[in-house]
Formats: sequence, C-alpha cells, structure tokens
Amino acid sequence: MKICMIGTGYVGLVSGTCFADIGHTVHCVDNNKFKIEKLISGESPIYEPGLDELIRENSRARRLFFTSSLSEGVNKSDIIFICVGTPRKSNSSSVDLTFVLKAAKQIAKTAKSKKIIVTKSTVPVGTGDLLDKIFKNKKKFTIISNPEFLREGEAIRDFRFPDRIIVGSNSTNSFNIMKNLYLPLINKGAKFFKTNRRGAELIKYASNAFLATKITFINEIANLCEKTGINIEDISLGMGSDARIGSRFLRAGPAYGGSCFPKDTKGLVSIADKVKINLSIVKSVIKSNYNRKILLLKRINKIFGKNVKNKKIVFLGVTFKPNTDDMRDAVSLYMIPYLHKRKAIINYYDPTGEKKEFKNLKNCYFYSNTKDACKNADLIILHTEWDEFKSLDFKKLLKKKKFTLYDLRNLYNHEQMKKKKVRYFSIGRPIIN
Ligand code: UDX
Repeated sequence: MKICMIGTGYVGLVSGTCFADIGHTVHCVDNNKFKIEKLISGESPIYEPGLDELIRENSRARRLFFTSSLSEGVNKSDIIFICVGTPRKSNSSSVDLTFVLKAAKQIAKTAKSKKIIVTKSTVPVGTGDLLDKIFKNKKKFTIISNPEFLREGEAIRDFRFPDRIIVGSNSTNSFNIMKNLYLPLINKGAKFFKTNRRGAELIKYASNAFLATKITFINEIANLCEKTGINIEDISLGMGSDARIGSRFLRAGPAYGGSCFPKDTKGLVSIADKVKINLSIVKSVIKSNYNRKILLLKRINKIFGKNVKNKKIVFLGVTFKPNTDDMRDAVSLYMIPYLHKRKAIINYYDPTGEKKEFKNLKNCYFYSNTKDACKNADLIILHTEWDEFKSLDFKKLLKKKKFTLYDLRNLYNHEQMKKKKVRYFSIGRPIIN
C-alpha cells in the first residue's frame, strides 16, 4: 500500500521505515530540509539503534522516500499518517495541537483525491472530531486514530512485535484497510483491536499514565524498603510474578523522564479537567515523580553532610534512559543544575556525547569516557543504565582515595561494593552507610 508519514521524528520516521520494511511504499515528509537531506543520504537525524541501516536498506529497495514537499508525499499516497509533535503548551499542562492542525490543513488543501487520514501522534480525546471539521468539504476523507506504543531505544522491535495494534474509527471500511496495512504483523501474532476514534485516543493516554503510575508506585515502595531493611528487587519480583500485575515497569529508579510520560500524564489531567473530572491518582503520580528528584538531592546532601561545595560529582549517563540521545525530562536536567548552583564541580560522561543543556554551566565538564570523567571523584552517580556501566571496576577506575557510589539504577549491590571498600548507596535497599 502507498502511505505518507507527515513528520520524521521518533514516531513518523521509525513507523515509516518499518512500514516500508514490511513491504509498503512510504513517503516520509518533513518541513525541515536539513533533516530530509540527511535522510536521503541514508542517515537518521535521531539516535535509534538499527534505524540507519533499515533506512538505507528500504531506500535502496525503492520502498522508502523522503521529501520536504507535503503535496508530493500526500498525492503519491492513499493513507496519510499525521506524526508531528504534540508538545505541552508553554506554562500549562494542555496539549499544543498547532502542528497537527497545520498538517491537516495543508493535506486538505493539497490532496487531489480521497485519502484516509490517520493520527499517530499522541492527541487529546476529540482531536479526530476537530479534524473532521477541517476536512468537512472533502466528503470522501476518513479520519482514524492509530496511536503508537514505541519505546525509544527499542522502537523497531516494538513496531515489529506490538502487543496490540489499536485502530479507532467510526467506519468499517477503514478497519479493513488498516488491517491490510498491518497484516504482516497480525500474521505474526499481533492483536488487532478495533474501537471508536475517541476510544483509541484515550487508550494511548491511559496506557502511558498507567505505566507512569506503575513506576511511581514501585519507586515509593522502594522508599519504604529503605526504612524497613527490605530489598526492592524482591518486592518487584514477588509482585510481578502475579499475572494481574505483570513484572515489567516495576524497576525502581530515579524517577521517570522522557518525551512521553511527563507530557502525557499532564496532558491526560488537562483533558479530564476540561470536562470537570478529577484524575486524583494521575495527579499524585505527577507530584510524586517530581518530589522524587528532590528526595534524591537530599540524599546527596546527606552523603556529604549537607555541603557539596567544591566536591567533585560525576554523572555516568545523563540521557533519560539508555539507547537514546534524548534528554527530554531526564532527571539529570534537574540534578546537575541544582548541584552546580551549590558550587559542586560536575563531570559527566554519556555514550551519546556532550549535551547542549549543560554547555553553559561553569565547572560542569563533559568527558568522552568513564575513566577520565571519574578521576578524583568524591561521588559517582550512576544515572543511566547504559550497558557499558554494568561491569565497571571502580577500584581500578579510581586508584586514589575514598569515594562514594550512588547507584540510581541498582546495577551493583552492597556485597560487591563492600569487598571493594566502596561507600555505596542505591535505590530501595537497606541503607548501610
Ligand atoms: C514510553 C512508553 O513506554 C511507550 O509505550 C510510549 O509510546 C512512549 O513513552 P519511552 O518514554 O521511550 O516509552 O521509554 P520507557 O522505556 O517507557 O521509559 C520511560 C521512563 O520510565 C524512563 O525514564 C525509564 O527510566 C523509566 N522506567 C521505565 C523506570 O524507571 N522503571 C521501569 O521499570 C521502566
């Protein structure tokens, strides 16, 4: 089938490339000419393992095309996916639909024949109804919701092996067309779930808010574990083996970040507020996740006995999770400026390189490897669980004096660190000073 992806970000580019990889002809459109040139040269503007080669392979096979002309992409396709950003409105929780509405208006203006319009971006409940109005004099157009559930760093795998494909529509014919589009995945076991359009729009928000709730729940239980001499991993395992709970997204950590959970939890609350429904649980998740960052910083103050001035604090990893270069709502964006303001000296290393977010911070230095970053450290904070941080020999890394390791991802444990005489703190385990 011939499809067009409007927007080549984490959603549009990965989905478009993977649709081409299952045999469709895909035109990816972006108004950022620099991005399009990069893509035509076979290079992905986003960091996603395996994406570059998939782009090159499908471009070579003439299934995948890139253009900055929306008209070309639209008129060479029958199904048009809107995959543009839906950021939070500045100083509000509500969702900014500017890019979605702009794309829809451009499609309505340029399309020469009937199309199926699919919103894949995460859009508030009722967005499809808004788009109906834009296409009202294009009678033959159908507007469908088909949200994605791709995780950064695992997006290709998540596209290829989805737990379910959600399609929201009020027309049977569109279900058949969408079923055809996803047939290779359905034949491999993916569930195809049909609902109405608003239902699909809400399933996306509710899914992300629930995953954020699960993470926040286990993070709060981790706090309880620290005060009751219990190991949080035992709780996650013991709980997670109940099929009704499920073991995934029960790993205690520093707080959730990323481009979705923070935005979508707030977006869902704002959708509900508009119809005077109080989502008290989601509101408390947002608050708890924010407070967690303050809690971690209080711990750091305690490690140094209140004063971090002139202490060398090293961050290993700064992205919000491994296998991505995405810094959106990373906990490091909160912790590093806080510590910097209190005159700590900050070193950091991340496999995806130096970050613009920290470039203008005095006494905050990027290093291109773990060893140099950790030199003369007073405190090492394991912020992101990149594979290369999973078997470090800290004693070899730091020949010199005593130092403390704050393991925010529980990659190590007390027994190991005691043997190496490293002062060790982690998440949700009995605190042994
Ligand atoms: C998320 C959803 O998982 C995905 O379905 C949706 O399409 C987009 O948003 P993403 O934000 O890319 O994906 O990453 P994810 O792996 O979900 O992690 C989000 C945050 O939760 C990260 O900060 C991660 O460190 C944290 N997390 C995740 C935990 O702290 N514990 C866990 O067990 C899982």
